[in-house]
Amino acid sequence: MTREASSHVTVHEHYCVESGPEPCGVVIFGASGDLTQRKLIPALFRLYERELLPENFYILGCARTAMSDDAFRRKMRTSFATNDKMAAFLDHCFYLSGDYKEFSFYRELRSRLAKLTEAFRTGSNRVFYLATPPNLYTEITNHLSESQLTKEDDDGSWARVVIEKPFGRDLQSAVALNRELHKKLTESQIYRIDHYLGKETVQNILMLRFANAIFDPIWNRQYIDNVQITVAESIGVEHRAGYYEQSGLLRDMFQNHLMEILALVAMEPPASFAANCVRDEKTKLLRAIRPLVEDRRGDNLVRAQYEGGRIDGETVVAYRQEADVAADSMVETFVAANLVIDNWRWQGVPFYLRSGKRLPRKVSEVAITFKKVPHSIFTPLMPDVLPANVMLLNLQPDEGIGLTIQAKKPGPKLCMASLAMDFNYREIFGTDSMPDAYERLLLDCMLGDQTLFVREDSMQLAWSLLTPLLQRWEGSGNSPPLCFYAAGSWGPQEAIALLQRQGRNWYTQ
Ligand SMILES: NC(=O)c1ccc[n+]([C@@H]2O[C@H](COP(=O)([O-])OP(=O)(O)OC[C@H]3O[C@@H](n4cnc5c(N)ncnc54)[C@H](OP(=O)(O)O)[C@@H]3O)[C@@H](O)[C@H]2O)c1
Repeated sequence: MTREASSHVTVHEHYCVESGPEPCGVVIFGASGDLTQRKLIPALFRLYERELLPENFYILGCARTAMSDDAFRRKMRTSFATNDKMAAFLDHCFYLSGDYKEFSFYRELRSRLAKLTEAFRTGSNRVFYLATPPNLYTEITNHLSESQLTKEDDDGSWARVVIEKPFGRDLQSAVALNRELHKKLTESQIYRIDHYLGKETVQNILMLRFANAIFDPIWNRQYIDNVQITVAESIGVEHRAGYYEQSGLLRDMFQNHLMEILALVAMEPPASFAANCVRDEKTKLLRAIRPLVEDRRGDNLVRAQYEGGRIDGETVVAYRQEADVAADSMVETFVAANLVIDNWRWQGVPFYLRSGKRLPRKVSEVAITFKKVPHSIFTPLMPDVLPANVMLLNLQPDEGIGLTIQAKKPGPKLCMASLAMDFNYREIFGTDSMPDAYERLLLDCMLGDQTLFVREDSMQLAWSLLTPLLQRWEGSGNSPPLCFYAAGSWGPQEAIALLQRQGRNWYTQ
């Protein structure tokens, strides 16, 4: 199919595969919480609107807060725009209150599920979504298993458990959590969520790399000078200080989002788009990352915390002055790292990763800088003054892809300019085409597709790279000092110096 998507771009739709799941129920633990209201229910409603939920489905929310089915529906109704499909959707939503620590709750849950299964003719296919405090994951899974609710039958019925982040707080706790989950569930039943993987633009990294033959030949050390991955937020710690003081940026962003993006950008081509083929390649890539060694000068790693400053014309306080943050907190709100991948493709190509809070604006992007021309025919312009081509994968908020090229500018014979060839998702496909990450991930879970979920081995590899750093920072060991940066800047001077010492600059400044 061909259609005019905007005034200047024609989109040829070759292939669009979207299948619907089998009848099933979605059981949400943590149904009175923030994630359910802001993300999960709106995502399920959007799937319903787009007719991607099965005809036979129900949603059962569970939490301690006492609520009737109607009260739950009224609460959920505030989380999405009213339209003529809303009432029919809410007719599929139910609520059960109880404490996940009580055995009696699971008796009630079992009996409620039996009734819903019969009423909606879903068979015993179920997704259990654990949107709860992480210390409850094992307890809930154990109870579900002992109540026979996660048992998969020979008739093909299935039970899947979605685990929210954070998944552990270091290698040891992640291994322990995996071990506990595996006592009751198989790996194919466990869906570890990293919502970044559900973003259209993150998935597009795979499409760009492996549905186009022109990129792979240049996607390597011969043509690429360096790769930069930036995940920046302009917000501070907001109301999450309690969590953040125990977590810090390395756990909150690096261990999951940045390492996952890195793996998608740098992995070898998988043999197929099947979940384990993609995940095998990601794991191989993570295994090839050289362990990070910190030094006092900050050649490989810089960690920092924001001080007061100005963002969007407003004065904001230092991290240590935020409510519920210790006045002498050593928690990092910014990390920049230089990662080395020890394999044939990437030998000698630095991967610079950086993430922080209170940076000038919210942006997630991958900047791939190619090598400069080896020789300039445009004397007196020397190769060094000819800017390198940069491919920018903008993951959010202006989702798209850009490529800078050098071109002749009309005018004198030697008149050159950098041009940007930009493709913007929203302009081309419209805003409706950008489903929320949770829509994709919930649908994939119902379909039994684990491609965009994190497998045990890659989760543990990411933790094993970062845990030695965390242990040094949080122990009494002799670790390099915490740096500081003004809120509203792109991080500490030390992070800028990290690249400058290698003759480079951060792409976004
Ligand atoms: N919110 C986000 O944007 C976000 C983003 C990424 C990941 N996550 C993760 O998602 C999970 C949930 O986050 P959230 O922000 O939604 O948390 P939240 O607002 O604090 O909600 C927690 C939920 O768990 C329920 N709960 C806690 N202990 C319980 C117990 N013993 N028995 C029954 N229910 C219990 C609470 O029920 P009652 O209040 O009724 O007691 C509430 O519904 C966390 O692991 C978080 O790290 C959240």
